[in-house]
Amino acid sequence: MAEKLTAWDIVRKKAKGERIAMVTAYDYPTARLVDEAGVDVVLVGDSAAMVVLGMRDTRFIGMEEMLVFCRAVSSAVRRALVVGDMPFMSYQVSTEQAVANAGRMVREGGVDAVKLEGGADYAEVIRAIVRAGIPVMGHVGMTPQSAASSTGFRLRGKSADEAERIIRDAEEVARAGAFSIVLEFTTAEVAEYLSRTLEIPVIGVGAGPHCDGQVLVLHDVLGLYENSPPFAKKYADLRSVVLDAISRYVSDVRNGAFPDEGRYWRMDERERAELKRRLEERTGKGG
Ligand code: KIV
Repeated sequence: MAEKLTAWDIVRKKAKGERIAMVTAYDYPTARLVDEAGVDVVLVGDSAAMVVLGMRDTRFIGMEEMLVFCRAVSSAVRRALVVGDMPFMSYQVSTEQAVANAGRMVREGGVDAVKLEGGADYAEVIRAIVRAGIPVMGHVGMTPQSAASSTGFRLRGKSADEAERIIRDAEEVARAGAFSIVLEFTTAEVAEYLSRTLEIPVIGVGAGPHCDGQVLVLHDVLGLYENSPPFAKKYADLRSVVLDAISRYVSDVRNGAFPDEGRYWRMDERERAELKRRLEERTGKGG
């Protein structure tokens, strides 16, 4: 069996010039598949709020829900590093609460590391979680939890001002001890600079080809979500596959073609005769 990857292995991949493949998963069967397919990092993303729970954005998922998804994924994965996304308001209230919630993700959710959104403002929180012995993945650029309520889901780093702000944020997050950083929906120039200058891996999502790795939401990759962002790439159209399979099942049930021969079982001759005799007795036909 392949050896389980650690946060340190992910950092070393950058030093060795190996690109990092990361994808989300939220349940046991898909986590088994993505691990078997060879991804390096499985993210139990708070995107579960939208792609699994049908919520409007990622602010509405809480710790208890995330812990259920983390448990399912961590029981499935043998090789990849499992990262649990810290949900909105699980790390913003106080550093103590952030450390306690990161601890729950590890102890109750079974994850290897946590991810949290935010730049320089969250450096202290990152430092405290790392000090507690939990590896932290940062997340800068377009950060969906705050974008939902304030700045909107738009490309970041188009102006020199904004680009420099994101670079400073990423540098602070790295200095605080994060082992890697997700850079979301940000111009390629920012991604190129950060990937070149930071020692830790920069994992892009909508940030161009110069990153040390890439991450996508599984439901976008598989074509299972109808509102994918413009930077996502659909590698399969499972929506059509599932629709076709379920429609054929419905029609087989309705026309009696399912269950077919070999998928149900009969009594043997002697027991059938005995049952017949007993039933006839009940209806008064026998004896
Ligand atoms: O929640 C999530 O899926 C994410 C990825 C897009 C990085 O944060």
